[in-house]
Amino acid sequence: MAGRWTNDLDWKDVTPRAALLNRRQILAGGAALAASGFAGQAVAQTSPYSTDAEPTSFEDITSYCNYYEFGTGKSDPSDNAGQLTTSPWTVKVDGLVDNPGDYALADLLDGLTVEDRIYRFRCVEAWSAVIPWNGIELADILERVGVQDGAKYVAFETLLRPEEMPGTRFPVLDWPYREGLRLDEAMHPLTIMATGLYGMPMPNQNGAPIRLVVPWKYGFKSIKSIVRITLTEDEPPTSWNMANAREYGFYSNVNPEVDHPRWSQASERQIGGGLFSQRKPTLMFNGYEDQVASLYDGMDLTANF
Ligand code: MTE
Repeated sequence: MAGRWTNDLDWKDVTPRAALLNRRQILAGGAALAASGFAGQAVAQTSPYSTDAEPTSFEDITSYCNYYEFGTGKSDPSDNAGQLTTSPWTVKVDGLVDNPGDYALADLLDGLTVEDRIYRFRCVEAWSAVIPWNGIELADILERVGVQDGAKYVAFETLLRPEEMPGTRFPVLDWPYREGLRLDEAMHPLTIMATGLYGMPMPNQNGAPIRLVVPWKYGFKSIKSIVRITLTEDEPPTSWNMANAREYGFYSNVNPEVDHPRWSQASERQIGGGLFSQRKPTLMFNGYEDQVASLYDGMDLTANF
């Protein structure tokens, strides 16, 4: 794995643009934290979990999006999500937890460490990106609310506010958008709740103010603009699985050997690479096999896709 998990990536080694953004991050990130009231929150730290792959540009990450609450076109989210009100923001935490409640986002995150995590991101549609997220390990948030014995899954829900989300006027999915993880997946250190990217507060089209990021799973598991976290005993219903269980499994781990019924998952096109960019082979668990394969020991990954 030499080279893939180095923790000595320096932004000046990446691209001049990224280095420029990193300097801005120190300014904008600090200002953003102050403005959002995250007093006492540490400024982002670099993580050994980051990849050393070159990040996709800010422009590509923020203009080529999937966020069906704002429309199904790739540019609909950047065109329509500007009107979303993301402050104040409340997250309901319920189910099998010691401290249920309606948390102001700043209170839920107060004092927790925000890290830089440069992750590969692989959409089920076979496009990919490398995204420099800023986020908090979900495990830190779950420890804060106190997971009770008997909890085996974590369910998430996105905001449903039709007056600001034009896409929800159409029954494309059974709104609100829902996702879920097994508890051990949720507690894995790679699983983060992202509050920003490129050191800036999360753009609305990418899931402001807080979204899940699970880098070894297809992108649709990484649910945006979360307003509810529920600890459950049973596997929760999830939007794409409810829409088409044959095509979208609960696990949805990136797996080049298990094709989508309508297309191959063996390779991917990285966004921003231009029309004639070469497809790359897709990696098992999106390249995070060493970190996460043991979560699925003994499981048939074709049956549990
Ligand atoms: N979350 C919500 N609420 N609504 C969505 O439509 N799309 C998913 C996921 N999270 C989606 C969502 C899909 S299919 C992908 S690939 C990623 O968000 C895209 O994230 P990005 O637009 O930030 O790249």
